[in-house]
Amino acid sequence: MADYWATSAGLRDFQRSLDLHLDVRGGSRGTGAALIRALRDAVRTGRLAPGTRLPSSRALAADLGVARNTVADAYAELVAEGWLTARRGSGTRVAARAEPRRAGTAAGRLPEPPPHPLDRPATYNLLPGAPDSARFPRAAWAAAARRALTAAPSAAFGHQGPGGRVELRRALAGYLARARGVHAEPARIVVCAGFTSGLRLLAEVLRAQGTRRIAVEPYGLGLHRRLLTDAGLRTVPLPYDDGGTATAGLPATGAGAVLLTPAHQFPTGVPLAPERRAAAVDWARATGGVVLDDDYDGEFRYDRQPVGALQSLDPEHVAHLGTVSKSLSPALRLGWMVLPGRLLRPVHEVQALSRTPPGVVDQLTLAEFVESGGYDRHVRAARQRYRRRRDRLVAELARRAPRVTVTGIAAGLHAVVRLPPGTERRVLARAAREGLAVARLGAYEYGQGAWEEGGDFAAPPAAGEAPGPEGEALVVGYGTPPDHLYPGALAALCRVLEAET
Ligand SMILES: Cc1ncc(COP(=O)(O)O)c(C=O)c1O
Repeated sequence: MADYWATSAGLRDFQRSLDLHLDVRGGSRGTGAALIRALRDAVRTGRLAPGTRLPSSRALAADLGVARNTVADAYAELVAEGWLTARRGSGTRVAARAEPRRAGTAAGRLPEPPPHPLDRPATYNLLPGAPDSARFPRAAWAAAARRALTAAPSAAFGHQGPGGRVELRRALAGYLARARGVHAEPARIVVCAGFTSGLRLLAEVLRAQGTRRIAVEPYGLGLHRRLLTDAGLRTVPLPYDDGGTATAGLPATGAGAVLLTPAHQFPTGVPLAPERRAAAVDWARATGGVVLDDDYDGEFRYDRQPVGALQSLDPEHVAHLGTVSKSLSPALRLGWMVLPGRLLRPVHEVQALSRTPPGVVDQLTLAEFVESGGYDRHVRAARQRYRRRRDRLVAELARRAPRVTVTGIAAGLHAVVRLPPGTERRVLARAAREGLAVARLGAYEYGQGAWEEGGDFAAPPAAGEAPGPEGEALVVGYGTPPDHLYPGALAALCRVLEAET
């Protein structure tokens, strides 16, 4: 059945042009009646939303190849019926009260996409995992986007191969070598849509190359474990001791790869000790395995020099993964992998098939942002702000809740608040009553499900669940709230801990 697209774009009517999908085949009662029916249907079913401005009768007549009067008469009829309104100066519009009828009875039950688990309507949000979104550098980013778009070659807007724009790979190579000590020739870099999409690509490639097991930290994000499992890899938790993740246990796992957060363990916050870093790389060399270094917040180190990226120890056995999700915004979906040479071609192949590199405008904007020094300026300013917040957290808790200890504070946007034994359940219950969203450390333990599957990091442990090796503790995301809400959120946390510990 033929449909007709009216694409009104007459020069004089350019301001009032838009594409309308209208079936105006004449039938026995003529084109005018068909046009009335088509427009009425479009309004009634909601295809034309209330308030939508219609093309001028001249423009639509030209598009449909009918007389202008036919369109004018149809508009007049529909105005008389109440479907449209016509006002001098504002043209013909779909009437506001023309409530769309839902197409089909099932339509009302279509599921809305769920919100992100961190996007919750708490009065005070101290969940870890996000930077202060009110501090996104809008003006500097917009200026970088304008410069990048002006300078970009036309080919940037054609089809793109895998790997990401060379402008961004060059900019990242320079930045990562300078700021994170990564051996990063542009050809080693694959741009991806954040850490998560890079991990997904690598999991697929590793599985296709015969890896069956991947070792993971005993604490981490359930989402990542779930993603690896979905890709057909079995996750095996590494042993845990006083020094954190025991990489000396790698040979016993039988794994072909390991996922680590060496610079700042997520969520416990400790860096992997030098001998444990070396043990991971030695294992990879000896077995042909690969270490995946999740460097998710390496930019935010407060007290000492940043812990350099593990990749510099052996670029052929360590894949370095980074993201702007903590430094700029998790909504940008921009990240990168610096890969061992042997993984490049297979990753390119998988990325070419799935077409997952981020959009070219964002890639070019980030390249310009990094090259122009805007990224460094933003990160340095953010580091100062978060450091002040962290210092305030530590000072306030020392004063008002002396029975808790704060750890994992040398870096990142979150801290671990260790609770006296037997208080965690009460603390979480009171936090919920106070409207304070804060995570429980135990919710990140191996074996706990992924947040994204409906798990709740702020919920108390299941009945009978014993505390894990790290004991009872909260994970406090002090980077999350905007500046003006941070003091209130911190005060709520202090009230809760003062009362229950
Ligand atoms: C441990 C860890 N890795 C990686 C990420 C970043 O993931 P993505 O870049 O996909 O937003 C996060 C953050 O939110 C994280 O907590």
